[in-house]
Amino acid sequence: MKDESIRPYVLILPSSSLPPTTPSSSEGKEKETIVPIPGQLNPSPRLLLGPGPSDVHPRVLGAMATPLLGHLDPQFLVLMNETQEMLREAFLTKNHLTFPISATGMAGMETCLVNLLEPGDKIVVCVVGFFGTRQVEVAERTGANVIRLDVPWGSVFDLNQLRDALTKHRPKVLSIVHAETSTGAWQPIEQLGKLCHEFGTLLLVDCVTSLGCIPLKVDEWELDAVFSCSQKGLSCPPGMSPVSFSPRAVDVIVKRKSKVQSWYFDMTIVQKYWDADRHYHHTAPITMIYAIREGLRLLHEEGLEARWARHLRHHNAIKAGLNAMGLEYSAVPGHQLPQLNAVKVPAGIDDLTVRKKLLNEFGIEIGGGLGDFKGKVWRIGIMGHNARANCVFQALAALEQCLVSVGYKVTPGAGIAAANKAYAG
Ligand SMILES: Cc1ncc(COP(=O)(O)O)c(C=O)c1O
Repeated sequence: MKDESIRPYVLILPSSSLPPTTPSSSEGKEKETIVPIPGQLNPSPRLLLGPGPSDVHPRVLGAMATPLLGHLDPQFLVLMNETQEMLREAFLTKNHLTFPISATGMAGMETCLVNLLEPGDKIVVCVVGFFGTRQVEVAERTGANVIRLDVPWGSVFDLNQLRDALTKHRPKVLSIVHAETSTGAWQPIEQLGKLCHEFGTLLLVDCVTSLGCIPLKVDEWELDAVFSCSQKGLSCPPGMSPVSFSPRAVDVIVKRKSKVQSWYFDMTIVQKYWDADRHYHHTAPITMIYAIREGLRLLHEEGLEARWARHLRHHNAIKAGLNAMGLEYSAVPGHQLPQLNAVKVPAGIDDLTVRKKLLNEFGIEIGGGLGDFKGKVWRIGIMGHNARANCVFQALAALEQCLVSVGYKVTPGAGIAAANKAYAG
């Protein structure tokens, strides 16, 4: 049947784009091609239970439909101030230099590294998974002397290992990932800032998967530079990367001898747009600022403590369910992230077959493994708006169906029963 929603339009290709084999009669002429206009945007519904993006809260979607304001409109400047203030409260910091970078989490990582590091500076990068290796790659491009510390994926660093590294290397910066999304491991950092400061070292922390999900206390834990994202705990689409710099870190930035390698991410310039002088830097992504403002309003209406407790409650339920189905976590006990449940793919089961079934038959997206864990783990995000019982039950029920269909032995309903028991207990 002819799809009436598809109407043809004419695409005129310049002659320079034609392949060299085009007949000589069309030489020098532009070629007309009739192609259909694609249908209206209408993807199949999905439940996003991967490592992010997670589903956007309906109130955030509503905020995003608000008509645009100009990026220097006085009304918009008020919204920027409100966003900054709520962000400080979300990070539990008084840091003046706190705002969302107009790009995804990787831009936050790059912003922190390029502003703190100059060629020849020493940085110790702690690698517990894929996102630690990303920090190594970005730091190397600054011309810094990068010292990489590794522990096996799925485990975390202990404070003594880090004290030894600080004693040995005396770096300008030590960087670490708070919530390593590739392994599902939760790195303790409560004492690390104080320790770094004993050595005159700045502490940089990747909080992409922790903000809005698990305790994060920037001032109390003496963190000097942190970055996060919008698409996980804040229940927004990807596109913003909140950052915050301590007065110690700001002091280092203003005393730099060389220019920051990146113009766009140079804090000394972009800050002037977010500060009172409001110098034009780039056209702020207005709709994304509406979104993150609403995501932050949701966070503060719920309260930080209540938000962290909600993630833990649903984690305990899904973990009981996954374990009852015989699935083991890839992160070491005591350090498993509530919001990102990474489990080992059982022996003899094909990772991709199961994930495809989940997507095609149940509309559920979960994540596969990254780097060393490719094909070996599934990553189930119960984060932000999706830290809810119906997501837990849907994930467990659908996973059971998919696993049984590929020959995995599981007691019918065991996962759901165990999750119910965890909620009750
Ligand atoms: C821990 C961590 N750091 C950095 C990033 C990069 O963020 P983005 O993909 O938003 O650029 C991610 C993305 O998932 C992440 O999980």
